[in-house]
Amino acid sequence: MKKIIVNGLKYQYPQADVRALNDISFEVEQGEFIGIIGKNSSGKSTLCQSLVGLVPHFYKGAYGGEILVDGLEVKNHPISEIALKVGIVFQNPFTQISGSKLTVYDEIAFGLENIGLPPAEMHERITEVLKELDIEDIKDHSPFTLSGGQMQRLAIASIMAMKPEILVLDEPTSQLDPAGSEEVFKTIAELSRQGVTVMMAEHNMEKIAQFSNRVMLLHEGRLIDYDTPEKIFSRVDLADFGVEPPVYTTVCKALNIKKNGSDVYPVTLAEAEMLLRGTQR
Ligand SMILES: Nc1ncnc2c1ncn2[C@@H]1O[C@H](COP(=O)(O)OP(=O)(O)O)[C@@H](O)[C@H]1O
Ligand SMILES: [Mg+2]
Repeated sequence: MKKIIVNGLKYQYPQADVRALNDISFEVEQGEFIGIIGKNSSGKSTLCQSLVGLVPHFYKGAYGGEILVDGLEVKNHPISEIALKVGIVFQNPFTQISGSKLTVYDEIAFGLENIGLPPAEMHERITEVLKELDIEDIKDHSPFTLSGGQMQRLAIASIMAMKPEILVLDEPTSQLDPAGSEEVFKTIAELSRQGVTVMMAEHNMEKIAQFSNRVMLLHEGRLIDYDTPEKIFSRVDLADFGVEPPVYTTVCKALNIKKNGSDVYPVTLAEAEMLLRGTQR
């Protein structure tokens, strides 16, 4: 089932000289984990914001084309309605918190109160996400005292508690250490296995290669390519878009070791290791 359909999306911020997004079209199936890559200013965040309707409803500006999320045309529905289907974790977690709640627990409860969830279910959901994001120990802390990493976990927990069918995450692990980042990726991947559709902008190509079903390569507001991680990272012109493939791919490219019977290079450690061991025999 197609969960997201984007057709000829064009968007220019007010006062900007050029379009931030230009003629973007793609489709996403339910339960896919889509990685969004591209150098700074390529349009990743703007694309994320457009999937939840902040573009154009909040940012205004010149908008063309259409986005359907679960059959709902974003441009014709208010953000409040789209938010029931699509959750977003912002690039900067500090912009995510309400600013009005005194504890981490109450901050997560905030969104759930707004949708009128019964107290028992609310408590159940909050307990679950506190555990999944490993922030049970700070549930009584003030959101204003958190580190960047804790704030990022809180932002993800708040959105996960809403149980959106589509989850948009804009560089959600930028403040986390490698172990924390791995944990968060695994949590999100598990949601995708359960049927949640995931769109994630991310700079860590090893993680994107490991967890994405398909990858979107953006450059100057255009969708250059939308394909499997192997196809995207095997492109010979990848550097032209300011993107470096996973380190495993770089090594295999240098040694000209392709996946068996294909014209693509491996993108994960497990695949690269297997092929490199094979060449030693
Ligand atoms: N609020 C804004 N107002 C005007 N221009 C913006 C705004 N946010 C982003 N842009 C511009 O839109 C383009 C895409 O930016 P962005 O979506 O943030 O890219 P990325 O997330 O890939 O770094 C850039 O040229 C950026 O300067
Ligand atoms: Mg961004």
